Amino acid sequence: MTWLEGSTLGHFMRESGPWTYAIVNLAHILGIASLFGAILIIDLRLLGLWRRVPLVALAATAPTVAACGLALALVSGTGLLATKATEYVGNPFIYIKFPAIALGILNAMAVRRSAAWRERSSRPLTPAETRRLAWMGGLSLASWLTAIAAGRLIAYW
Ligand code: HEM
Repeated sequence: MTWLEGSTLGHFMRESGPWTYAIVNLAHILGIASLFGAILIIDLRLLGLWRRVPLVALAATAPTVAACGLALALVSGTGLLATKATEYVGNPFIYIKFPAIALGILNAMAVRRSAAWRERSSRPLTPAETRRLAWMGGLSLASWLTAIAAGRLIAYW
């Protein structure tokens, strides 16, 4: 945290004008909104809503929006953190937020690697595969909601 705060990014965030933090914070929110908005649709579909909408149709668009949103949140979040990184060390919510983000990312990678997701367009899924995808959709929702709640609560500690 000391290294991050003293880095070029930390200096830039603190010394480049009064609007820098606000604009980067706005980018963070836009990233989170794109990530969660897209992932919510996928997760609810995996949990069994809108079964008539083929997974293939969702998979063609929503994951790209979610990935771009995540990239924006990661880049802007690093800028926010660098502004006063050492002040966050005792904040319990960062120790909830970052593992929740890691879990959300690992879970998304597990969904992408699963046979059910990869073969979604070539054959109908078995009931066991549908159940497994539903569990992963539930875990995804739990991870991202935890990350968002903990991220917001950082300011209240
Ligand atoms: C490398 C990744 C990330 C870093 C380093 C990071 C860091 C930060 C920092 C330092 C803040 C400001 C805390 C404060 O109020 O002082 C913040 C706010 C926040 N972050 Fe992140 N973040 C990252 C990714 C994410 C992701 C992926 C999500 C959600 C899925 C998220 C959700 C939030 C939320 C909801 C806020 C509150 C924004 C506001 O109310 O203005 N963050 N983040």
